[in-house]
Amino acid sequence: MIEVAKRLQNVEEYYFSKKLREVRLLKSQGKPIINLGIGSPDMDPPEAVLNALVETFEDDAAHKYQSYQGIPELREAIANFYKTHFDVNLSAQTEVLPLMGSKEGILHISMAFLNPGDEVLIPNPGYPTYKSVTNLVGAVPVFYDLTQESNWCPDFVALEKRGVENVKIMWVNYPHMPTGENGSVKLYEELIRFGKRYNILIVNDNPYSFILNRFPRSILKYKGAKDVCLELNSLSKTFNMAGWRVGMLLGRHDYINAVLRVKSNMDSGMFLGIQKGAIEALKSSDMWFKSLNSVYEKRRKIVWQIADALKCTYNKGASGLFVWAKLPEHIEAEDYIDLILKEKSVFITPGTIFGSNGEGYIRFSLCAPVAELEEALARLK
Ligand SMILES: Cc1ncc(COP(=O)(O)O)c(C=O)c1O
Repeated sequence: MIEVAKRLQNVEEYYFSKKLREVRLLKSQGKPIINLGIGSPDMDPPEAVLNALVETFEDDAAHKYQSYQGIPELREAIANFYKTHFDVNLSAQTEVLPLMGSKEGILHISMAFLNPGDEVLIPNPGYPTYKSVTNLVGAVPVFYDLTQESNWCPDFVALEKRGVENVKIMWVNYPHMPTGENGSVKLYEELIRFGKRYNILIVNDNPYSFILNRFPRSILKYKGAKDVCLELNSLSKTFNMAGWRVGMLLGRHDYINAVLRVKSNMDSGMFLGIQKGAIEALKSSDMWFKSLNSVYEKRRKIVWQIADALKCTYNKGASGLFVWAKLPEHIEAEDYIDLILKEKSVFITPGTIFGSNGEGYIRFSLCAPVAELEEALARLK
C-alpha cells in the first residue's frame, strides 16, 4: 500500500462529489429524484456562444496549444465587460487573466501567495473550496463568523481582537454563497482598508453578481482596491456555461503575474473554441441578463413556497442562484435533508457543508425547471 501525501490528511473528497454519487445511485434504483442541491445552471448559453464554438473548427489553429494567458481578444472582451458592467478600468494586457474555471483559480492564487503555516481568513458559512485548498497548500484556515444578526458581514473588530498578523489572504464572496447577501459599498471600502492596514490580500470571489441582483458590484471599483485586492469572476452562472470552465482573475499586474507563474506550469491553455464562445458570451446585451433573471424570478417564487411549506424563514432581498432558508428551531440540517431525500426524493443542501454557522439552515438551488419545482412543492407540502 502506497501512502498518500501528508497534504491530504486534512482534505476530504468534495461533499457534492460524494453526495451526488448517492443521489445517482438512488436515481438508478428508480427513485424519482428532484435535485435542488447543486448550482449547475440547467439552461443553454447564448446562441452566439454555440455558433462561435462550431465556427472555430474552420480555424487552422483550432486544435493547437493556446496561449497561457488566453488569446488577446478574450482578454479584451473581459476588460470591456468589466468596464461596461462594473465601471472598472483594466488593462487587457496586464490586469486580466482568463482561467479554466474560477474554482481552479482559488488553487492558483493560494499556490502563488501562501507559504506553509500562513493563516487564511475564510468565511463561515462559505464556499468549501477555500478551506480545502488552504489545507492542500499547507496553510492554516482561520474561519471568520458570518451571522444573520450581522447581515452575513465580517466583524472587523472581532478579527482585530483575535490578531491577524499571520494572515496572508482573506477570501470574501459577495454576493455571498450560500446566504445571498450582497456586498455594500461600505463593506468593500472597509475590506480595502483592512487589507491595507494589515497587509492582507483580499480576494473577492464574484461569480453571482448577475443573478437576481439589481446592483452588480466589483471590489476593484473602490479606491485603493488594486493595491491589496484581486477579484475572481466566472461565466459559469452568468452565461449558463458551468461545464465550459471559463473563469477570470482581475487585478494588479504583478499579482496577476505571480498567479500566471503557477498557472502556466499547470495547464497549456484553453481550447480555442471555448475562448471564442466566451468572447461572444461577454458581449451579450442587457436582454440576456433580463431574460435569465426573469426565469430565476419565477423559479424563486416556487422555492419560497417550498420553504414556507417546510416552515422556514428566508430573505426575499437576497441575490444569487440559491434560496438560503432558516429551519424551525431544533431541527438539524443534515438529518432533515437526509429524511427529505429518503422519504420525498428531493435533494436539498444542508447548510452545515458551508461551515458550522450553516447549522439550522438549508440551501435550495434555482437550477431546476418550474415543473420540477412544482412537483417538489407538491411532495413537500
Ligand atoms: C462561491 C463560489 N465560488 C466559485 C465557484 C466556482 O465556479 P466556477 O469554477 O464554475 O467558475 C462557485 C461554484 O459553485 C461558487 O459557488
